[in-house]
Amino acid sequence: MTFKGRSIISIRDFSKQDLLTVLSHAKKLEKTPQPNLMKNKVMATLFFEPSTRTRLSFVSAMEKIGGSILGFENTDTTSVTKGETLWDTIKMVDQYADVIVMRHSIEGAARLASEASAVPVINAGDGANQHPTQTLLDLYTIQKEKGKLDGLNVGFVGDLKYGRTVHSLCIAMSHFKTKMFFIAPKALQMPKSYLEDLKKNNIPYVLEEDLEKVAKDMDIIYMTRIQKERFTDPVEYNKLKGVYQIDASLLKHTKKNVSILHPLPRVDEISTDLDETPNAAYFRQAGNGVPVRQAIIGLVTGKLK
Ligand code: CP
Repeated sequence: MTFKGRSIISIRDFSKQDLLTVLSHAKKLEKTPQPNLMKNKVMATLFFEPSTRTRLSFVSAMEKIGGSILGFENTDTTSVTKGETLWDTIKMVDQYADVIVMRHSIEGAARLASEASAVPVINAGDGANQHPTQTLLDLYTIQKEKGKLDGLNVGFVGDLKYGRTVHSLCIAMSHFKTKMFFIAPKALQMPKSYLEDLKKNNIPYVLEEDLEKVAKDMDIIYMTRIQKERFTDPVEYNKLKGVYQIDASLLKHTKKNVSILHPLPRVDEISTDLDETPNAAYFRQAGNGVPVRQAIIGLVTGKLK
């Protein structure tokens, strides 16, 4: 499928070849920077929901390939406070920019924005639904850390119910030979629809509550935060927060070369004593957001093929 003019809304819209195309361009851009690739092009970053990594790595990515940026990092100073609709906001911004990067708390908001927009919209996270560019950088990280995407056992730990990064990565990894482990309390387990998709695609998976019990089997441990902002009931959040807290002692129960990923931010689920171990891949993972997002910007604007 051609990327030019295409919005990036859900990882479900990607074929295996599409995923590999993005990774291949990211690798080339990391090796050979292209400082003029997006010269005279403008990227709008519309963040209706907080972000550190996603927004900053998109900004860094665009600046390093010669483009310029406009946008907002919260809606306090925008006409959203006066009641302007998302549709109308996009109808204007698409005249000011060549590509729009948007994060919103409402599931489906990115799809709606792409219907309003004359330029590609890149979903930087819509509620608990999807975060496709995070998934692409997660795949890139796995490929860099392990040298392959096939034949890996991937364990997802924590908030699998609301974790959009988990949902997207689970779909993407289904294109490869993999076994998945979902480690979560029952109340935060993977939504059934994702498990049904895995069954349809003959991807083996295990549901488990005890991380230590299955840690030895994993090549990748993908930790996630229990997301306070996704709970409607604070009592429920207080029951579940802190349920998984790993530290360097976990490595006694894992393969020697297990890679620990986390989309970040973390709260208390990964102790800082893991940071200096070679297994801690999460800061390298955040850095990989730059070449991967450069590749995505270049592809959807037709500057890369
Ligand atoms: N991983 C991620 O989406 O981080 P931010 O919320 O800081 O953008």
